Amino acid sequence: MPYGKPTQESALNRVVTLQSLRKMKAEGEKFVTVALYDAPMAAMAKKSGVQVLLVGDSLGMTVLGYDSTIPVTMEQMIYHVEAVKRGNDLSLIMGDMPFMTYATPEDAMKNAARIMQAGAHMVKLEGGEWLGETVKMLSDRGIPVCAHLGLTPQSVNKLGGFRVQGRESEQADIILNDAKILDQAGADLLVLECVPNSLAKDITAAVSMPTIGIGAGRDTDAQVLVINDILGLTEQPPKFSKNFLLESEDIPSSLQKFVEDVRNGIFPEDKHTFG
Ligand code: KIV
Repeated sequence: MPYGKPTQESALNRVVTLQSLRKMKAEGEKFVTVALYDAPMAAMAKKSGVQVLLVGDSLGMTVLGYDSTIPVTMEQMIYHVEAVKRGNDLSLIMGDMPFMTYATPEDAMKNAARIMQAGAHMVKLEGGEWLGETVKMLSDRGIPVCAHLGLTPQSVNKLGGFRVQGRESEQADIILNDAKILDQAGADLLVLECVPNSLAKDITAAVSMPTIGIGAGRDTDAQVLVINDILGLTEQPPKFSKNFLLESEDIPSSLQKFVEDVRNGIFPEDKHTFG
């Protein structure tokens, strides 16, 4: 029963830290991230061996019914970080900082502190070079940061929609340069969303921090999907996602299959990527 009950081997048996993720990158071992929002799913992720839980501001769309992540508030993020924390004491918990809560380094410090005090182990911010000073400030003060490049949903109005980024070489160079700047500034992880496979591969090789891809090909150090997509709850699922429930017998086995497929390099397939 390959995708039945989570196996002893895949269930987490120790606390996941940034150090363990760096070691996995160094050893070429893929790790798994899931964006989820509540205690039962967080508990299931622990049993399935999911290393990183992202309490994403995607909750604005997946849970709260907004048509973008822009309306999400600090209070909503804190409520969901606390819930996820109650469900899982081993995975590393990353809390998204909502739209405009890190527009200045001072705002970022004040609001990141609240996300950390709610139970997150690190915060995630969307943006490139302009965030260098903020990342350094947070990092110097003991707050680990995950950067987020490529399709950055909080900038959907500027980007003209949820579309692939970095197809033209000039734009790809800017994203690669942003990644290097944020790496130098002290970012600990980097989400790459909807970028061509080759760009994600180049960035992963160029930076010391582990990269987590979503619609970014197979060559990142980790993959992330949103729990709603894994369980087929999304009406119009994005090209990069996969409904794992279709080939599993229940919800725990779907999560387990996602973990196994990432670990074994089976997911993403070419059809989930932007060549
Ligand atoms: O908010 C979120 O869930 C995210 C992922 C899609 C990477 O940022």
